[in-house]
Amino acid sequence: MFDEAEIALTVRRLAAEVARGSGDEAITLVCVLKGALFFLADLARALPAHLDVTLDCIAVSSYGASHRSSGEVRLVKDASTDLEGKHVVIVEDIVEDGLTLEYLTGLLSSRQPASLRLCVLLDKPYRRRAAVRADYTGLVAPDAFIVGYGLDYQEKYRNLPYLARLSPKAFEEWGPASQIGRGRPVKLPGAPRNREA
Ligand code: PRP
Repeated sequence: MFDEAEIALTVRRLAAEVARGSGDEAITLVCVLKGALFFLADLARALPAHLDVTLDCIAVSSYGASHRSSGEVRLVKDASTDLEGKHVVIVEDIVEDGLTLEYLTGLLSSRQPASLRLCVLLDKPYRRRAAVRADYTGLVAPDAFIVGYGLDYQEKYRNLPYLARLSPKAFEEWGPASQIGRGRPVKLPGAPRNREA
């Protein structure tokens, strides 16, 4: 779907935009685990060397699919640094319905950062259920299940250096009662959503 060269170009563009938006102010990049690991690593290294950059990580999880409409997202791992007064940039691999980012912006805003911005590699804007908008967006993703460069299918394929569409064959084994990933019941294929894995 997107090869290494395209990803690298996109990451460099995003790094330039983040740097421009930061002026010469110090920034804290907050990686949303695990999907954004590789993206953050490349983004951070593409920032100008003179910029004062610190890193932190956060992890969230969602309740079962039946609860998704209520938008319940659970904090699994909090940031480990004090974000008060910092210029914070949330770094996400993909935004689909937006519930994760809606939760994270609410949570991190309450820590009273000097500013809070969102940087997203992949966007599926047509999937949105929460009104969140990234300040920096890499690529608009087609409506497919995407793996690689941090994105997984049942925890696999994160290590692929490119972004690929998961073969429909991979979904053939899914059953209505399957428990996939973090235990969310998954319906048969239909429109594949990265979130469901
Ligand atoms: C994925 C992705 C985002 C979130 C986006 O994470 O990394 O954090 O879903 O979904 P949303 O916009 O529909 O809320 P996932 O829960 O699959 O965990 P992972 O990053 O560990 O793969």
